[in-house]
Amino acid sequence: MKITVVGAGAVGATCADNIARKELAEEVVLLDIKEGLSEGKSLDMFQTAALLEFDTKIIGSTNDYSKTANSDVVVITSGIPRKPGMTREELIGINAGIVKSVAQNILQHSPNAIIIVVSNPMDTMTYLALKSLGLPKNRIIGMGGILDSARFKCYLSLALNCSPNDLHGTVIGGHGDTTMIPLTRLATLNGVPVSQFLSADQLKQVAADTMVGGATLTKLIGTSAWYAPGAAVAVLVESIVRDQKKVFPNCVYLEGEYGQKDICLGVPTVVGRGGWERIVDYKLNAEEQEAFNKSAEAVRNMNSVLSTLSL
Ligand code: 2OP
Repeated sequence: MKITVVGAGAVGATCADNIARKELAEEVVLLDIKEGLSEGKSLDMFQTAALLEFDTKIIGSTNDYSKTANSDVVVITSGIPRKPGMTREELIGINAGIVKSVAQNILQHSPNAIIIVVSNPMDTMTYLALKSLGLPKNRIIGMGGILDSARFKCYLSLALNCSPNDLHGTVIGGHGDTTMIPLTRLATLNGVPVSQFLSADQLKQVAADTMVGGATLTKLIGTSAWYAPGAAVAVLVESIVRDQKKVFPNCVYLEGEYGQKDICLGVPTVVGRGGWERIVDYKLNAEEQEAFNKSAEAVRNMNSVLSTLSL
């Protein structure tokens, strides 16, 4: 197995680090346009192999896509991260051009790869990758829902004073501060609805904290988060390369599922060796469906910006 991560910033490097530590591939290639950055970070990470006892090779590449040839999975993290006060959506002008050219370069060298898009605004960047590459829809996955769901479980665990590992919780919709939908009705503590332990107001607060989970970190750190995004990507990659068939919310192309079409948006999907293999219908209630439709409208507006850019 060979996995490429494009972008050796904090998110990309943490993806590569987690993928190597989990030994999900024989080889991880980290590529960046900045001279020496990916080589340096890769070597630093590979020097942990003898300490952390993993055998995955990590190789850096300054913009040489031939080194990424025949990757099974490619993670695109390229682009600028957000600064405090910025929304993910404000990055579109710069990141769209970057993501499109990266995706095209990748496809040239790895025609069979499954492509994971992390760059923001992620839902629109996933749609852009899907439309510009013309690959089967199952091979393009936007990663946001796994991360948002982990943040949801983090805030639930703090409210419940329990282990995040005893919780199930899913965030669907867009990966934006106002477009994501934490499904509080379906969240459970070992199968028991969390509404049995938390008041409606507490649940509202958990949902609100989840939605600005990324923005809160950006404000604190001064740039986008990386530990949880990197770990979330590795969990997704693991389900692909080990064909685990795990169900994760992922941003995928909808053709009528959840009442939407011609859009990439977060819905529960089964993930295995074929990429996202099918969509699972969680049977939203009217309120959740309305929120999902609103989220789709916002993402669709963002997607329409793509046609105004000279890509
Ligand atoms: C986040 O939410 C990077 O979009 C990513 O932290």
